[in-house]
Amino acid sequence: MGATWWRQAVVYQVYPRSFADSDGDGLGDIPGVTSRVGYLAELGVDAIWLSPFYPSALADGGYDVDDYRDVAPELGTLTDFDALVGAAHAVGIKIIVDIVPNHTSNRHAWFLEALASAPGSAARNRYVFRDGTGVDGSLPPSDWQSHFGGPAWTRLTDADGNPEQWYLHLFAPEQPDLNWDNREVHEEFLTTLRFWADRGVDGYRVDVAHALAKDLSDPLRSKPETPGELPLDGSDPLFDRNEVHEIYAEWRQVFDSYDPPRTAVAEAFSAPERRALYARPTELGQAFNFDLLKADFDAAEFREVVEFCLAQAAEAGSSSTWVLSNHDVVRHASRYGLPTGTDLDDWLMTDGLGTILDEEQGLRRARAAVLFMLALPGSAYLYQGEELGLQEVADLPAGALQDPIWLRTQHTKKGRDGARVPLPWTEEGATYGFGSGNAWLPQPAAWSRVAVDQQDGVGGSTLELYRDALRIRRELQTDETLDWIDAGRDDVVHLVRPGGWHCVTNFGTEPYALPAGEVRVASAELVDGQLPGESSAWFTA
Ligand code: NOJ
Repeated sequence: MGATWWRQAVVYQVYPRSFADSDGDGLGDIPGVTSRVGYLAELGVDAIWLSPFYPSALADGGYDVDDYRDVAPELGTLTDFDALVGAAHAVGIKIIVDIVPNHTSNRHAWFLEALASAPGSAARNRYVFRDGTGVDGSLPPSDWQSHFGGPAWTRLTDADGNPEQWYLHLFAPEQPDLNWDNREVHEEFLTTLRFWADRGVDGYRVDVAHALAKDLSDPLRSKPETPGELPLDGSDPLFDRNEVHEIYAEWRQVFDSYDPPRTAVAEAFSAPERRALYARPTELGQAFNFDLLKADFDAAEFREVVEFCLAQAAEAGSSSTWVLSNHDVVRHASRYGLPTGTDLDDWLMTDGLGTILDEEQGLRRARAAVLFMLALPGSAYLYQGEELGLQEVADLPAGALQDPIWLRTQHTKKGRDGARVPLPWTEEGATYGFGSGNAWLPQPAAWSRVAVDQQDGVGGSTLELYRDALRIRRELQTDETLDWIDAGRDDVVHLVRPGGWHCVTNFGTEPYALPAGEVRVASAELVDGQLPGESSAWFTA
C-alpha cells in the first residue's frame, strides 16, 4: 500500500466527545479513544478520523476551535494525543485529524485581539469585519445568510456599549470567518498542518473546504440564500470559488514534504461536476461525496451514484469516497426505515413519533447498504456506532440539545445531536460502559441490547457482520475497477471486482437466487441459496 494507502482505505470516524470517557466526566476523551484502539483493530479499520478535539467552548460541537495546536483540557493533553498516535500506529491504524480553516471560534486569540483592536487594524483584517449599512450602520453589510439560520453577520458593541462594526460568520456567531485574502491566515494554517504532521498524523479532513475564498470586493455581492445550485464557473461570491484551489495547491507542498506524503480529504459542497477539482493529486487528493448518503435505498439510484462518482474520481486522478453516515446526518439505520421522502427535520421534531420508523427494515437495509459500499473501489468512511446498527436518537429532550441549529432556528429544528449520543459498550452500567459518570447526552434504554459486549462474538450481529466484511475486504481487495453484471431484475444490483469478488444487493423484497460461487459474507441469512429481500452478499467465483 505505502503512500497510496488512503485510496481504498476504511476510515472510521470518531466523534471524540461521544466515543469513550476515560475519566468519568461525561465527555469522551483522547485516552478513551486510545483505550479502544484494540477494538478498532479488531474491527479491521485502516484509519481513524478524529472530529475536532481542540480547545473549544462547543458552540458547534468542537468545530469552533480556540487553538488549532492543542488538545481540549477536558479531553486530554498533547501527550495523550501522542500516546493515541503511538497506539494506533503500533497496530497499523493511521490517524486523520480535522482541520477547520474557514472559521475559528470567537475565543481564539486572534479574534480576541481583533475585538480589542480598532476598525481597519491588522488584527481585524484576519477576519471579515465591515461597517453596517443603512443610516446608522444598523443593517448588516450584506444579505449573506448563516448555514445555521439567520444573518451571517453579527454586530459588535464597544466597551461603552456603543454599536460598532459587524463581523461575518457563515455558521454560528461563535465561529467568525477568517479572511483568506490575508497572507497571515495562509501561513498560520501551513504551520498547523506541519504541527500535526510532525506529531505523526497521517492525514487531514478539511472542513467546509469550498468556502475559504470569498469575493470580498466592495460593495459585497448579494447572496440571500445558503447553497443551492452553485455555478459551474466558480463565480459564486462565497462558495467553490476558483481561488480556493490556490490554497490547496500550497497545502499539497506541505503534504508532499513528508515521507510518506500526508493525505487529505475535502468536505466540499460544490456543483458535483466541480468536486474533482478538490480531489486532484496536486491539491487535497480526495473529496467526500455524499451522493450515496443522500440516495434512497434503490437499485437504480445506487448504481447511478456509483457510476458518476467513479467517473469523477478517475477524472480527478483520485479514488472515490463513500459515506452512509456521519456526525451531521440522521443515522442511516433510521433513514432507511422511514418512508421515502420523509422530511427528517420534521420527523425529529415529533421525537420520532410523527412517522413510524420501521427499525427492523432500517437495520436490514443498512446492513445491505454497507456490504454494497464496502465492495466498491475507493475509500469507505464509517461513522462510530454504525457497526452496532445504532438508530438515531430522535427523542432527545429539548433541554439536552446542544446543536446550535436548535438555538439558531428558534427551536424549529433539533439539529444533529441524535447522531452524537455516546456509544454503548456494555449491557450494564449507567452509561452502558461509555464512562463511569453521566453521558453528556442521554442514551436510550434500548442501547443496552445493542452494546458492544452484546454483539461481540454473536453470529449474525451487526458488529460481527462489519468485522467479517472488513476482514474479507482486505483479503479480496483489488484494482480500483468494477464491472456490472446483469442480474435480470431491476431491483437487484450485481457487481464484480477484479479477481472474482462479487457483490449482489437485493433492493427489492422478493428473494433472489444467487449465481454459483462461494458465499463469503451476507447481510442476512440465505434461504436455500436465495438472497432475501433488502440484503447483500459477497461471493467469490
Ligand atoms: C461541517 C462539519 O461537519 C459540521 O459539523 C460543522 O458544523 C460545520 N462544518 C461547520 O464547521
